[in-house]
Amino acid sequence: MDEIRVAAIGGSLREESYTRLACEEALAAANNFERVETDLIDLRAFDLPVYDADEDDAGEAVAFRERVDAADAVILGTPVYHGSFSSAMKNALDYCGFDEFENTTVGLLCVAGGSFPTTTLDQLRGVCRALNAWVVPHQVAIPRVRNAFDDGVLVDDDVRERIDTLGRRMVEYANIEPDPRTIEAQQNVGADD
Ligand SMILES: Cc1cc2nc3c(=O)[nH]c(=O)nc-3n(C[C@H](O)[C@H](O)[C@H](O)COP(=O)(O)O)c2cc1C
Repeated sequence: MDEIRVAAIGGSLREESYTRLACEEALAAANNFERVETDLIDLRAFDLPVYDADEDDAGEAVAFRERVDAADAVILGTPVYHGSFSSAMKNALDYCGFDEFENTTVGLLCVAGGSFPTTTLDQLRGVCRALNAWVVPHQVAIPRVRNAFDDGVLVDDDVRERIDTLGRRMVEYANIEPDPRTIEAQQNVGADD
């Protein structure tokens, strides 16, 4: 059996990002399986200017896309900003397209300072639909994230279980059989010219 590659993109550029810590936990759970390779794709490491469709390869977009494309399953982790996902996450996704995401297994995770993170996941799920990604039903929303961590250590066992389940799901469903093409999929032209 081939190796399974699970990646996570953390949508916060903040040095002490809880999103990044949660992504690391999910990847650690995925790593408990044999033949799994994990990759934390840290957006701070890539020069990705605000996306301009005339400059699709701007900055380090090519290198970024290669990392995403190499993964069989991708966790999208984002902070909740104004009730939605972060601009860093959207910018990174705008550099990608069907090549990176069509029929790729995706897991969603978000962290919030407050109490209502789930609309963010709904919105991200809609973006993934437009990319023809295969998003697993299980998702992780971490409200009041400061209570879940203590000095960078995850201390909430319920949150840990949900994150670990997401990591497991990425491995279990990494090699899904692609959906047959639907009329909706054929009409979904994305960024193709
Ligand atoms: C610009 C901005 C907008 C935010 N908007 C919300 C919000 O609408 N709801 C909420 O619960 N938390 C909100 N927060 C709090 C973040 O979700 C919280 O600080 C989170 O930990 C950030 O993720 P990070 O630790 O990975 O950077 C906001 C934070 C920022 C900086």
